[in-house]
Amino acid sequence: MSEHESLVVAAKLARENAHAPYSNFRVGAAVRANSGRIFGGCNIENASYGLTVCAERVALFKALSEGERDFSAVAVVTDAERLTPPCGACRQLIWEFCGDVPVVLANLQGKMKTFHMGALLPEPFDSSSF
Ligand code: THU
Repeated sequence: MSEHESLVVAAKLARENAHAPYSNFRVGAAVRANSGRIFGGCNIENASYGLTVCAERVALFKALSEGERDFSAVAVVTDAERLTPPCGACRQLIWEFCGDVPVVLANLQGKMKTFHMGALLPEPFDSSSF
C-alpha cells in the first residue's frame, strides 16, 4: 500500500467518528507528520452550526497540539461521488502549516485524486505577505 493510500485509510477510520447530525455529511481527514506519525480527524458539528469544525482542522490541530510542525501530506475522505476538497478556511490553515503538500482526496467508492496545495490555494496570503 502506498503512503497516500495508508493516509486515506487513516482518514476513513477517523470519518467513523464524525459528529454530523445536522448535515449528515461525514468527513474524515488525516495528516502525515514528518516524524512519521499520522493524525486523523473528523468533522464535529454543533447545534449553533457556526461552531462546526471541519475534519481537516481537527486533524491538523491534533497534530499541532502534539508538537508536530512539519507535514508531508493531507487526506480527505467522504462518501460523495464528487471528491470533497477542503473548504477555504481549511485551505488557509493547511497552507500556513503544511505548505505546498499533496492533498489526497478520496471517496468510499475507491475514487482517489491528488492535488497540491499550491493549486488549491493560488496567490495565498501568508506570513510572507507582510
Ligand atoms: N466539512 C469538512 O469537515 N471538511 C470539508 O472539507 C468540507 C466540509 C464538513 C463541515 C460540515 O460538518 C459538513 O462537512 C457540511 O459542510
